[in-house]
Amino acid sequence: MENLYGAHYYKLLSFKDNLEQKISRMEQTLEAFYGTNLIDHTMGRIKSEESVLEKCRKKNIEVTPDNIVANIRDIVGIRIVCTFVDDTFKVRDAIREFDDIKIIDEKDYISNAKPNGYRSYHMIVQNEEGYYAEIQIRTISMDTWAALEHDIKYKKDINVNKELITAELKRCADELASTDISMQTIRNMIYGQL
Ligand code: GTP
Ligand code: MG
Repeated sequence: MENLYGAHYYKLLSFKDNLEQKISRMEQTLEAFYGTNLIDHTMGRIKSEESVLEKCRKKNIEVTPDNIVANIRDIVGIRIVCTFVDDTFKVRDAIREFDDIKIIDEKDYISNAKPNGYRSYHMIVQNEEGYYAEIQIRTISMDTWAALEHDIKYKKDINVNKELITAELKRCADELASTDISMQTIRNMIYGQL
C-alpha cells in the first residue's frame, strides 16, 4: 500500500481517521439531539492495492501515486450504517455541515435505487489538501443486501442461471426496502417523527 500510494499513504490514513473522528462526534451530537442513536456502526478503509490496480486498468489510469490520488475518489472509504431509513438523510444533512471538507458529488440511490436493487446514499468529499473520500450511508438492510450481492458478483464461476439470480436479488432488495419502510413506520408510531 505504501508503495502504491507513495508519500500520500499517511495523508490518506490521517484523512480517514479524521473523518471517522468527526463522524463519531457527529453521532454523539445527533444522539443528544434526537434522544436516540441513529448510527448502528461506521467503517473506514483504505482501498486495497488489488482494487486500485483493477480500477486503474478499467479507467485507463497510469499507475503513479499522484495519478491514483487525483483520479480515484474512493481510496478513502467510509461506510455509515444506520438503523432506519430517515436517519440516513439526517446523517447526510449533518455531514453537509462539516466545515473543513467540500462536497464534490452526491448520489441518492436510496430515493432512486439502481436497476439491480442497490440502495445507498453516496457522497464524494474533498479535504483542504485535495484528497477525496467516498462516504456511503445506508441502513442495515441495504448493507446486508450489498454485502451479499458483492459476494455473488465476484463468484464468476457459478454454474447457474444468471438472469434468475439477478431477478431474485432484485426481489430481495425490494422486499428489504419495503421492510425498512415498515420498520420506519413502527418507530414513528412509537416515538413520533424524530
Ligand atoms: P465506481 O463504481 O466506484 O468506479 O464509481 P461510480 O461512479 O460507478 O460510483 P457508484 O456510486 O456507482 O459506486 C461507488 C461504490 O458504491 C462502489 O465502489 C461500491 O462500493 C458501491 N456500489 C455501487 N453499486 C453497487 C452495486 O450494484 N452493488 C454493490 N454491492 N455495491 C455497489
Ligand atoms: Mg460503479
